[in-house]
Amino acid sequence: MILITGAAGYIGSHCALCFSEYGLDDILIFDNLSTGHIETVYELQKINPKIKFIQGDLKNKEDISSVFKKFQIDSVIHFAALSQVKESVVNPSLYYSNNVLGTVNLLNSMIENNILKIVFSSTAATYGEPKYTPIDENHPQIPINPYGSTKLMIEKIMDDYDKAYNLKSIRLRYFNVIGADEKIRIGEWHNPETHLVPNILKSVFNKTSEFKIFGNDYDTKDGTCIRDYVDVLDLADAHRLALDYLNKFNKTDVFNLGTQEGQSVREIFNISQEVTRQEINFKIVEKREGDPKILLANSSKAKEILNWKPKRTTFDSIKNAFEWEKVLFDKLKASN
Ligand code: UFG
Repeated sequence: MILITGAAGYIGSHCALCFSEYGLDDILIFDNLSTGHIETVYELQKINPKIKFIQGDLKNKEDISSVFKKFQIDSVIHFAALSQVKESVVNPSLYYSNNVLGTVNLLNSMIENNILKIVFSSTAATYGEPKYTPIDENHPQIPINPYGSTKLMIEKIMDDYDKAYNLKSIRLRYFNVIGADEKIRIGEWHNPETHLVPNILKSVFNKTSEFKIFGNDYDTKDGTCIRDYVDVLDLADAHRLALDYLNKFNKTDVFNLGTQEGQSVREIFNISQEVTRQEINFKIVEKREGDPKILLANSSKAKEILNWKPKRTTFDSIKNAFEWEKVLFDKLKASN
């Protein structure tokens, strides 16, 4: 059985979906539902009735150690984390206890039960301000916010656990994740939402919330920031390949996940207008603190070693995200 922590959230739920559709369907979801949604778990259970769900919190050692006693877990995919950069600056204590302490409890329970394989959801935020671009896995890791620091600390803890206890981990460092399930059963659902694509699309439904572009005088082709947008289903597939690699080679490793194609905020906005066939209102506002002008992945290692092939175009991703926003809008309207 595969334990997926945080699978009631955005990326974890798409990973559970991808694994289920691939026939890796013996899945246990562990989530405290602090930012994830029980509705997402129910959707996943409709798709794959074998999925089991435990509501628990990694901060409570007993919650997670009892899972390993009760179920026969072979490997772990670990998503459960808080992931809002701004919130992490305002409330670092929340982030260190939730992300770092929570992961230590998870890893200790794994060691106690002799489960020594984990795929970990890391981030480009561990690199901090880019020293060169595109960023490869050897780029210095100097995070500029507590969120990035928590993920880097976890990577270091995993190194130490490898040396001492033989725990093997694959760390996947994500760039900017977008998109939704192609059948629109699940999608991105944050509250509050801070990410670019859902914010653009939400402004189509909510006429009072005008979409804001954070700065247009960066030293880039059109003055707006450039990011590397990768589809959530392609990303989910990389987790399947990473687990396969771990099972085959029993080796700790790290991979960037991005497409290596940079797109500006303005370009994403234009594609969103194309997808929605609407003129979307926007205004240019001040730069957001801590936004590097360009973040681009060198992801050739994942392509070569994991044989990862991201398939979806940005247009596809935004189209699925738009269809999902419609579903979410109706869902939220009905619950009000
Ligand atoms: N942006 C806007 N308006 C918005 C939201 C975003 O102009 O309403 C811009 C940002 O300034 C940035 C780009 O769109 O230039 C992307 O912003 P996101 O907030 O969507 O994503 P980030 O690049 O800030 O963050 C992502 C992940 C983080 C991770 C980081 C790694 O969401 O979890 O990449 O550097 F830490």
